[in-house]
Amino acid sequence: MLTVENLSKRYPNGLLALSGIELRVRPGEILGVVGGSGCGKSTLLRVLSGLEPPTAGRVTLNGTDIASPREEIGFVFQEPRLMPWLSIRDNVAFGIRHLPKTEQTARVDEALQRVGLADFARCWPRELSGGMAQRAALARALVGRPSVLLLDEPFSALDALTRYDLQDHLLELWSYERPTMVLVTHDIEEALVLSDRVVVMQPGPGRIQTVATPALPRPRERTDPLFEDWKHRLLGELSRSFRDHRRGEEAFPAAAI
Ligand SMILES: Nc1ncnc2c1ncn2[C@@H]1O[C@H](COP(=O)(O)OP(=O)(O)OP(=O)(O)O)[C@@H](O)[C@H]1O
Ligand SMILES: [Mg+2]
Repeated sequence: MLTVENLSKRYPNGLLALSGIELRVRPGEILGVVGGSGCGKSTLLRVLSGLEPPTAGRVTLNGTDIASPREEIGFVFQEPRLMPWLSIRDNVAFGIRHLPKTEQTARVDEALQRVGLADFARCWPRELSGGMAQRAALARALVGRPSVLLLDEPFSALDALTRYDLQDHLLELWSYERPTMVLVTHDIEEALVLSDRVVVMQPGPGRIQTVATPALPRPRERTDPLFEDWKHRLLGELSRSFRDHRRGEEAFPAAAI
């Protein structure tokens, strides 16, 4: 269980980015996080990963505080962040270079196979398309066999078709080891296609406004009228978060829909 208790984050410049965040993410759950620009989504992921310390409150994984980055927590950023001087194979192996060579090779082969890049292991990052590079980034995150995978707008730089393809692909990857996933996205459709629950955040400081549990059968169909209904509900929640913020109102404590 990934647990966030009364988390606040104030940056050294005094800006309060997160306040009073409470979350319990079940093992294997896919949690979507949506909200306007600047409402603290990336900050939340960085604190969950151990990259940023919380100012107040606690983040624990199975009862242990997350105080620094660790192998069991994988991270995928908006850009692939591959090292240009390393082959795809070596990029993927980077986080597990402390393991015995045979174990490294087996894990990297498996990860590249799963993301469909087995034939590109010897390529350089510059030789891959944007979608392929992001698949390599997914392989790099998965090779450490994380029990938690954090994704910060992983597909937002890609065209719509590639994005749909990778959304489906992400579900397939999830199905092998079923890590807990926290997926930050600007895209409500993406959140609805992938997530068991969707957190809507409000800005200034970042808080949880609503936690939605879309009652939609899987696999999720974008053309399903129920899907459309949920999209409208979440859009309504998002615009309410801006409206309330402008008026200085807070939807607090978080509501559930
Ligand atoms: N290192 C930092 N130092 C100071 N302030 C920061 C830092 N990083 C982020 N912030 C501020 O914290 C707030 C939340 O930023 P954050 O990047 O978490 O938002 P976000 O929801 O991810 O936005 P976006 O959707 O644009 O990616 C913003 O006001 C931002 O300016
Ligand atoms: Mg962000």
